[in-house]
Formats: sequence, structure tokens, C-alpha cells
Amino acid sequence: MLHTRLCEALGIEVPIVVAPMGLVTGPELAAAVSNAGGLGILSFSGNPPPVLRQQIHQVRELTDKPFGVNLLLHFPVEEHVDVCIDERVPVLSFYWGDPAPYVGRAHDAGMVVFDQVGSVAAATRSVKAGVDVIVAQGEEAGGHLAGRVATSVLVPRIVDAVAPVPVVAAGGIADARGVVAALALGAEAVQMGTRFLATREARAHPAYKERVLAATEEDTVRTTLFGHGWPNAPHRAIRTPFVEEWLSDEARGSESRPDEPILGHTTIAGRAVPIPRFSTLPPSADVTGDVESMALLAGESAGLVDRIEPAAAVVRELVAGAARIIADRLAGLGGDALREERERVVRLHMESENVHDFDTVIGTFSHPRYELVATDRVHDGEREVREYFRESRSAFPDQRNELISLRHADDAVVVEFWLLGTHEGPLLGIPPTGRAFRCRMTAFFLFEGAKLVCERVYFDSGTILRQLTG
Ligand SMILES: Cc1cc2nc3c(=O)[nH]c(=O)nc-3n(C[C@H](O)[C@H](O)[C@H](O)COP(=O)(O)O)c2cc1C
Repeated sequence: MLHTRLCEALGIEVPIVVAPMGLVTGPELAAAVSNAGGLGILSFSGNPPPVLRQQIHQVRELTDKPFGVNLLLHFPVEEHVDVCIDERVPVLSFYWGDPAPYVGRAHDAGMVVFDQVGSVAAATRSVKAGVDVIVAQGEEAGGHLAGRVATSVLVPRIVDAVAPVPVVAAGGIADARGVVAALALGAEAVQMGTRFLATREARAHPAYKERVLAATEEDTVRTTLFGHGWPNAPHRAIRTPFVEEWLSDEARGSESRPDEPILGHTTIAGRAVPIPRFSTLPPSADVTGDVESMALLAGESAGLVDRIEPAAAVVRELVAGAARIIADRLAGLGGDALREERERVVRLHMESENVHDFDTVIGTFSHPRYELVATDRVHDGEREVREYFRESRSAFPDQRNELISLRHADDAVVVEFWLLGTHEGPLLGIPPTGRAFRCRMTAFFLFEGAKLVCERVYFDSGTILRQLTG
């Protein structure tokens, strides 16, 4: 089972988030993904606050699992925030603006706050404002685009910049390979839009879904064309004949002219709402009119999407596929590389002890710690470990090890070795005897991943004492 730190924090099973998609991610899709163990994020879709409240109730009728609501800060959302707080929605997700005014209230209500960003600067600003989870959106994403950087670069950059704040990767991820890659980049989860657009529960118009299935990775374009109602905001949409026709005059869309022809109608809060040419709204299932000329928002990942499935099947496939990739393909590669790295560290550690290069020995640990089980002594941290070196080497200035064997365990390298030395300085109150000892010992070098965190040594102290005292 794929399970990350963020899954733990949110109380979800798998690190798959369905993106809020205006008019597309309704209660059915959000609940289906939450029921499948991921996190469904309901889009507010321009709905007035009472309708948002109804939709939250609908999600709750369909699932008892955690879910979220997304609000676009380009629009007035004060009252929507109030509804979410009042309804104790588990996750409040923001996009396209400064979340700072809302974070404190959301936290007081016990909510987790997400913010989707497209740059390191915006991520840093959000974290300063107290946001709990950063969604890093790469430029290959579908829908509105917050930045200009590809997911594979943006995610690790933001992970490094905001650590330990968890990061969710968005943009260009549509199959299990993408999920594994995002986790490898340091993301704690993925947020996927285009892949879930092609699900049964998505409220996208059937012709729009068909367009996504037919599109290749080269069939989308970054544009500001669909700017009516949300001007000058770049977004990625399918390059339909309508888009091709208008691309050279894309600024026209952001003029939001009142006399643009009406292409069709959609229903918002039970009322028919006209869709003017260049409207920013993607066509939902109930839309009438010239769907092909509307904002068919989709990402480059459309090239990876070729069938419509139930959302739960998509989640299951992503998780099972990711587990297979990790077990079949990566374990072999990673396993050997990890072993080699651990062995290198252990050998360097033991060789550096022999030449009294204690700086290097300390450097082999991510946190220096010796546990000497026979004498029940623990030396923790650099200061105590250096003191242990000083004490033991003044008793046995020629102390050295001879490696006998080295074996790999899950979280440790187990080493058998001879320890040798001549007693030329005081040892635990015993004056120097000038005698030599030779003792067979076992050490567990404990690792967290590739990092050495402890050397735990087992030996019989009687064996040494007998040799020293005759
Ligand atoms: C049709 C569509 C509508 C979107 N609407 C929203 C939205 O309302 N709020 C939001 O935060 N992100 C929205 N997004 C962006 C997604 O959150 C996410 O960044 C994107 O889908 C990831 O790229 P992908 O489509 O390749 O999976 C939308 C994306 C799509 C495809």
C-alpha cells in the first residue's frame, strides 16, 4: 500500500488527490475518490454560498471520508470560507491569490489548508502565511496555470524550499509511472485533474471527455484566450479548431466584451446561465450549444488518457501500478545501490577508526551514536562520541579492528570483527597492564535509508578483562 506522511496527517489511505476542476469536480467525483481512499476536492465552480453548502452536504451523503473544498481567490470568497468553516470541511484548498487572510480561521476550526502555487516564491509566501500543504503545479497542467516551470523541476525545488511542509505534485501526472516519479521527486501526494476528467463521475460534457481521450500530449496550448470572466489568466486548453482560429488574437478573450455571441447555456444554482464566447467555464455535462468552441481545459497528460473509467478504478489502478513499479523495477535498482552505499559507509567508518581519523568517523553518521551493550554505555551526539574516542584510545592507543564478515539486514549492516589493542593507559580505574587483547565482536550498524544513525556493539567484556588481568 502506498502510504505517505501526508496520508497519515489527513487520515486518507493513498496519496491520490482529485483536482478541483470548475464545474467538473462535483460531489460525485470528489466523494468517489475519497471513498477509494484518496482525497476528493470539490470545486466551488462559481456557486453561490448556499449552493456550495448544499454540495458539501451532498459529498457528506456520499462519503464519510475526509474531503476538501477549493476556492479561487480571484473571486470574492469571504462567504464561501464562512460556509466551509461552518461545515467543518476537513481540507480547505486555495488557488490564485493570497490565502493569508483565511489561514488562521481555518486552523481555529481544525481544518488543513492547501494552497496551489507555480513558483518557489509563491510557495515560500504561502508557508509564511501558515499554509499546511503546498500543491506545486507544473506548467504542463490542465486548467489555469500559476507558473512557467515544469513539474519535474518545480516539485523538488519547492520540496527543498519549504521542508518539512508537505508538497503535493500537480501537472502532467496521469498514470502510475507519474505517481512514482512524483514521490521520487519528494512529493507526498499527487493532485490529478485531466486523468479524472475522463471518469464516469466527472461532470464534464461527454463531447469534452471524448476530446480529452482523442488528444495527444501535443494537442494542448497555454493561452489567455478563454478570459471572459477571468481575464489575463493563462490556462492550458485543447487546441480545437476554435482555438486555432483565435490564437493569433487571444487578447480578445480577456476583453470580456458584453456583446460576444452566446455559445450555449449551463446551469448554476438551478438557473440557466449563458456561456458567452471565450467564457472561462469548461463545459459541464448539462451544457447546451457549441461545446467544441468552449474552454476545453486539459493538460499535456491528455496524451496518457485513453479511456473513461469509474474514478475508484482509476485510483486502484494508480496505486496497484505504482506498487508494481516500486517492487518490480525499482527495488532491484534501489536495493543494490542502497546496499553498496551502506557497505561503503561501514567500511569507511571502520577503516577511519583504525587510523584514528575521528572526523571522518563522525562524518559517516547522520547522527553520531554508539551503544556498547556489554558495558551498558550509550554515547549520543558528537560531543559524547568524541569523548568516548578519547577515553578508549588513551587506554588502548593502538586499538584497531580486523573485519571478519559483513552482512546486510533490512535496516542494518551486521559486522563481525576482531578488536585488538594494548593496554597502555588507565581503563575504568585499572592501571595500564601493558598486555594485549583480541576479542571477537559483533556490531549492528543501524541505518535509516542510507544514513548511519547508530553503531551498536556486542561483545563479552570478560574476554577482554581475562586477557588484560591474566
Ligand atoms: C478542467 C480543469 C479545471 C480546473 N479547475 C481548477 C480549479 O477550479 N481550481 C484549482 O485549484 N485548480 C483547477 N485546475 C488545476 C488542477 O488543480 C491541477 O493543477 C491540474 O489539473 C494538474 O494537471 P493535470 O491536469 O495534468 O492533472 C483545473 C484543471 C482542469 C484540467
